[in-house]
Amino acid sequence: MTRHAPVLAARGVTRRFGRVTALADATLEVHGGRVTCLLGDNGAGKSTLIKVLAGVHPPTEGRVEVDGRPVAFASPRDAQRHGIAVVYQDLAVIPLMSVWRNFFLGREPTVGRGPLRRLDTAGCRAATREALDAFAIRIDDVDRPLGTLSGGERQSVAIARAVHAGARALILDEPTAALGVRQSGLVLEHIRRVRDAGVGVLLVTHNPKDALAAGDAFVVLRQGRVVAAEAAPAGMGLARLVELMSGGGPQS
Ligand SMILES: Nc1ncnc2c1ncn2[C@@H]1O[C@H](COP(=O)(O)OP(=O)(O)OP(=O)(O)O)[C@@H](O)[C@H]1O
Ligand SMILES: [Mg+2]
Repeated sequence: MTRHAPVLAARGVTRRFGRVTALADATLEVHGGRVTCLLGDNGAGKSTLIKVLAGVHPPTEGRVEVDGRPVAFASPRDAQRHGIAVVYQDLAVIPLMSVWRNFFLGREPTVGRGPLRRLDTAGCRAATREALDAFAIRIDDVDRPLGTLSGGERQSVAIARAVHAGARALILDEPTAALGVRQSGLVLEHIRRVRDAGVGVLLVTHNPKDALAAGDAFVVLRQGRVVAAEAAPAGMGLARLVELMSGGGPQS
């Protein structure tokens, strides 16, 4: 049962906020080594779904599964412990701190004991360098303040950081929304590398071109409901995807 189970899944998830039903009976699977794109208009329920998957909101009905087993996350930290990582659009970073300090923010390794315990700065620098190189992210100097990197580079560092911290399912909320064409291309390339390393990626996007460039499967939400869920058939074109997004009939 668990052998080919998705790393992360929502099964029949409904989430209400008072009288508002933000999500209605939504099912979605994130598989290792695959990019699943979550598409939908403003207010469709995308953020609500990723918050349920990331332990921010408990589902009102339905359940979340990790490796095919039901889980009830007590908090986002609890979800992290299960290998679920989210890179939100407003990256949780400190712009004036160096790239490597941000890379290890919240999980700083130390050397020495007792009163001599201190941050392993040399180790952090080397590990950051190595992790960025592994994903072909070209940043000349890990001592640069993170705020001096381009938007695309910052996204890429945030993604590499989550993978380095052990993410098995990586949720990206509109990672290319604020980027130009070239920068978007770099981030999408980086997402494909993370996917090829075996991580299950859930890519939230408004942009069908970005979805086609990186997606292996597509889930479309409308008014809180999944209206389409398709593995990308070879040669799926932009026209078909746009049709799915804009009302291409009930779920097949
Ligand atoms: N905490 C909340 N309290 C009340 N209503 C909420 C809450 N969070 C979301 N909603 C409502 O649920 C619906 C879905 O919102 P959600 O943020 O999930 O959409 P979205 O697809 O992420 O939209 P966008 O593309 O604009 O980010 C909206 O009608 C929204 O107003
Ligand atoms: Mg949203």
